[in-house]
Amino acid sequence: MDIRLLRSSDIPHVQQANITNLPENYFCKYYLYHALSWPQLSYVAVDVSRPPKSPYDPPKIVGYVLAKMEEEPTDGVQHGHITSLSVMRTHRRLGLAEKLMKQSQRAMAETYGAHYVSLHVRVSNHAALHLYRDTLGFTNDKVEAKYYADGEDAYSMKMDLSKYRLQLEDSEEDDDAMDVGSAGKKGDGEPKKDGKKKRKVKVGRGLGVGDLVERNESKPAS
Ligand SMILES: CC(C)(COP(=O)(O)OP(=O)(O)OC[C@H]1O[C@@H](n2cnc3c(N)ncnc32)[C@H](O)[C@@H]1OP(=O)(O)O)[C@@H](O)C(=O)NCCC(=O)NCCS
Repeated sequence: MDIRLLRSSDIPHVQQANITNLPENYFCKYYLYHALSWPQLSYVAVDVSRPPKSPYDPPKIVGYVLAKMEEEPTDGVQHGHITSLSVMRTHRRLGLAEKLMKQSQRAMAETYGAHYVSLHVRVSNHAALHLYRDTLGFTNDKVEAKYYADGEDAYSMKMDLSKYRLQLEDSEEDDDAMDVGSAGKKGDGEPKKDGKKKRKVKVGRGLGVGDLVERNESKPAS
């Protein structure tokens, strides 16, 4: 099983999985909106056990998580939101939903600095409630009466993402220690050829670019 980022070409297959598994369905353009606006947050589970018979065979998508950042958070706190999650019946109870959720949650914290993730779930959906509450650690925020089109109530749930944010900070500190080590002061890093101190600099976080670039601090700015 391969868990990878959602591609635009997956959308018809994800839409098919959504229609098969859930009564809450969306237009193609809503999937595309997610994929283009927050390309780091939505994932698919692909069954790669049987190789495609031809290059034109579509990927066998057996699960997906469709996620976004809340654009105008009412509480003013930057957070992510799970729009939809499902796994095909044939591939349930294998841990796929848990993995899809964790990938998305990590990306929300690392890429967009999300403080928490929110979602809605039917009060009668025991499988999903087990996953969210017991496996992942979501808590009930409130009940939203008649949230669904058929009149069923929803639990509005939240999960804190600070553990992912702390992990990211720790790994950045480790990287810094390696770099200082490379200047021969501390850490175990390989010495840099020029012995000059380099510092990792974050760029474009607000734009969703999670990569780090290196800048040589010893050179005067031109
Ligand atoms: C809810 C759903 C996504 C779970 O997918 P999954 O891949 O089977 O879940 P996982 O294998 O990752 O299981 C995660 C946990 O949930 C538990 N779980 C899964 N299905 C369950 C069920 N039917 N009843 C009770 N617990 C269940 C697993 O045992 C596991 O618990 P553990 O960590 O204690 O071992 C899947 O059942 C589904 O697609 N349902 C239809 C769509 C849906 O309801 N989506 C959620 C909308 S909010």
